[in-house]
Amino acid sequence: MKIQELEANYIINTYNRKPGQNLLLVKGEGARVWDDGGRCYLDLVSGLAVNILGHCHPAVVAAVKEQVSRLIHASNLYYTEPQALLARTLVEHSPGDQVFFCNSGAEANEAAFKLARKYRPGRYKIITAQRSFHGRTLAAITATGQPKYQQGLEPLVPGFSYAEFNNLDSFRRLVDEETAAILIEPVQGEGGVYVAEEAFLKGLRRLCDDEGILLIYDEVQCGMGRTGRLWAFENWGVPPDLLTVAKGLGGGLPIGALLAKREVAAAFHPGDHASTFGGNPVVCRAALAVMDTLLAEGFLEEVRRKGELWLGCLKRLQESYPGLVQEVRGLGLMNGLELTRPLASEIQQRCQGRGLLINAIGEKVLRFLPPLVISAEELQEAFAILEQVIAGLEEAAGGENS
Ligand SMILES: Cc1ncc(COP(=O)(O)O)c(C=O)c1O
Repeated sequence: MKIQELEANYIINTYNRKPGQNLLLVKGEGARVWDDGGRCYLDLVSGLAVNILGHCHPAVVAAVKEQVSRLIHASNLYYTEPQALLARTLVEHSPGDQVFFCNSGAEANEAAFKLARKYRPGRYKIITAQRSFHGRTLAAITATGQPKYQQGLEPLVPGFSYAEFNNLDSFRRLVDEETAAILIEPVQGEGGVYVAEEAFLKGLRRLCDDEGILLIYDEVQCGMGRTGRLWAFENWGVPPDLLTVAKGLGGGLPIGALLAKREVAAAFHPGDHASTFGGNPVVCRAALAVMDTLLAEGFLEEVRRKGELWLGCLKRLQESYPGLVQEVRGLGLMNGLELTRPLASEIQQRCQGRGLLINAIGEKVLRFLPPLVISAEELQEAFAILEQVIAGLEEAAGGENS
């Protein structure tokens, strides 16, 4: 049986993959992947912000190989070296003092919700942003400010409410004496790539301090160097009390982490939370290799430079094709292009046909999440394909209109 048939028979259809539309990928190297027909694609999806060092980065491969032959898994009943070393590295480079390890972004957020509730008994409410995305577990999807993902799952987890992103008053209005935390993505990803404003973040920080509320940043997508700083919030210098991280941290292996101030972390006692695979030695070794690479001299500076180059390319598209490109948004190598018409999937497919992978979110937004190691030449190559596709669509629309 072909892989596509196996999938249709044996995998629950949550991703809606379709033969002919969705590729069968077999190999990756750097910013490129290959399908089963041997065709090569420039990958600006990066496993949805996971492959920040590209595919099969040598440092990650070496770390995994070495650890896999030594100790693959041990229960959290025992100490293991990679977990302790990774926790130290994360703490040394973040506002957190202690770490809880898990396996995904949703789990990192779950840990944050539980810790926030434990920290201030009696306070259980969490305010999040409209258009946000925080994961698919029941609490994380309740935190997600997009009703379309919540339909049919009711009753949702009590205590979540939604304010308007970049509107401080909207958050302030929802605060009461039962509010435990405010949770936002400093750059909203899945909701359409919206960047927080400095005054908004500073206002949230002040609001939280004044009201004794925890400020939580979900940097599952925008963290790990994506915006050109290790953490997105560094762009504005407004730190959180709790920080959730996942996706890129494991270099392609599953990991999530909650970073917390010591005083807050102390609200968790032995037995309050746990994860069988959390802090797995192989995954933590991979993450250490990722952190080392990201923190190497000049790496993040390069990301900022390439981010400006890519944003410049997108802005040129907007200038050249105002009839199709409505807005360009983003920070570093996390960018979105909003279209005037619902052509996002069509553009995604046409780009794929020309050897470029990009991601359509909703009907009108294209999201670009290239690996941070992509070269300037590869970005130019991607731009040339995208421009050809957009020019082709504009020409066709012009033809229809004339
Ligand atoms: C900001 C953000 N938080 C949480 C998640 C959930 O992460 P995971 O799919 O690893 O549970 C995502 C996934 O896209 C995300 O973008």
